[in-house]
Amino acid sequence: HSIPNIDTPVLDPIRDHAQELAKAEAGVAALAATRDDRWYPAFHIASDGGWINDPNGLCFFGGRWHVFYQLHPYGTQWGPMHWGHVSSEDMVTWRREPIMFAPSLEQEKDGVFSGSAVVGDDGRLRFYYTGHRWNNGVDDADGQWQVQMLAEPDDDTLTSATKRGMVVDCPRQAVDSHFRDPKVFKAGGVWWMVFGVCSAARRGQMWLYRSDDMVTWRFERVLFEHPDPDVWMLECPDFFPLRGADGRERWVIGFSAMGARPRGFANRNKDNAGYLIGSWEPGGEFVPEEAYRPWDAGHNFYAPQSFTAPDGRQLMLGWMSPFDEPAPMQADGWCGNLTLVREVKLDDAGFLVTPPAAEMTGLRLGTTDMGALSLGYDEERTLAADAGPMEIEMTLDLAACAADRASLRVHGTDDGSFLAVCYDAQIGAVTVDRAAAPAGAPHGCRVAPLDPDELACGTLDLRVFVDRGCVEVYVDGGRHVLSDYSYPGAGPRAIRLVAEGGPLEVRALATHRLRSIGLE
Ligand code: FRU
Repeated sequence: HSIPNIDTPVLDPIRDHAQELAKAEAGVAALAATRDDRWYPAFHIASDGGWINDPNGLCFFGGRWHVFYQLHPYGTQWGPMHWGHVSSEDMVTWRREPIMFAPSLEQEKDGVFSGSAVVGDDGRLRFYYTGHRWNNGVDDADGQWQVQMLAEPDDDTLTSATKRGMVVDCPRQAVDSHFRDPKVFKAGGVWWMVFGVCSAARRGQMWLYRSDDMVTWRFERVLFEHPDPDVWMLECPDFFPLRGADGRERWVIGFSAMGARPRGFANRNKDNAGYLIGSWEPGGEFVPEEAYRPWDAGHNFYAPQSFTAPDGRQLMLGWMSPFDEPAPMQADGWCGNLTLVREVKLDDAGFLVTPPAAEMTGLRLGTTDMGALSLGYDEERTLAADAGPMEIEMTLDLAACAADRASLRVHGTDDGSFLAVCYDAQIGAVTVDRAAAPAGAPHGCRVAPLDPDELACGTLDLRVFVDRGCVEVYVDGGRHVLSDYSYPGAGPRAIRLVAEGGPLEVRALATHRLRSIGLE
């Protein structure tokens, strides 16, 4: 197939951008004015009002951390996409920034879709994102026309940007219309752009383009095709190197796959985000070397994006997607939040882990150290009778755990509902069990099976972050993570530990009250 080339960005304004941004701000404000905060996050990034999905344009620039995100400012469902924006000096206290992008060009008539930010050799930042149009002007019935776009911030505050237009058109005969989510990086002295494609044969692919000037892009190769023929699209691809303790460079390919069927504990969500580790030489083929793993085993995790911090760390945020489950927060004027910032790294054994970024301990306001605990058969211990935003650190003695489950029940309210974070000794896994969720809230259970060496090591480390409407569970330093929405009932919210069906020993337990990140 011939791939169209664009030498100069194509810019076709159809609406006044400033006017569209002002309208969008008013849309968010109108929803925020009616917001109910019963489940609104204290320490997770969300919009004031409206719907959000993927994190976009992640970067550290001009002395601040910047998080942009897919935003529908006019409702609590997905709709015509904008880019919302928050920033922070320390990754702990965040402030709202003006909405960055609204659809205003022909090529992005129906949405400013996901994309990334990258700093050029000149020290200036660029945004690459997908311009989205429905072929029939209204919906996906006749497919879509998606192209990659370039925009440049007006100054270092990143509070406004100038759109440069389309830099990569879609070779529509080679593509079954899905063609989106550019991520740009430099390797081997060349600028590379990867994005996700549904090929004409309906296979999920990642395409690679190259550039010398960050403006003129040329097709290089299909970097990766997902081996599962059910997978027809790879959204939000990511591609970055990591170095382990042995100094060897590995390349991580991340993607949010559409179409994979559920198999046992795998692929339980409608769409599923995970990664492969392999090797890559700039210009060459990506060679996978390890088995696929999910980024997160919870009900609500999708479309993560990573970026490289100035100190070399690879940091990542995901979207806690409600997928097809009931999302009661939609009645409250908002829908969706991002995860905490996670670091992506190889541990000493060369195993990829995603613990909370070190900065996340800055959320702690006060600590209650409960030391070691022994619980008898079915014994229940109340850790907090009325907990606000909280982190629980717990080390469980696996050898001494005769209970079927060590069940940490958070969001326990007077109606008898709660969410359970469990070590399940029978299946050798950490689970998030929503069986006791209130009526109208989503139920179900998710399982992160532990690896044999984790089970054999004798202890299990948990860090459980409990916000007003969601929970993140980090297992064994981020070897597994589970992210879930939770919609507690009315009244005080207790946290209890229960030794279900047998005694258990906790080696160490501490609770930390967490602060608000300043976006409420
Ligand atoms: C992933 C995704 C992206 C797209 C964006 C649109 O959740 O579908 O592929 O760019 O969301 O909002």
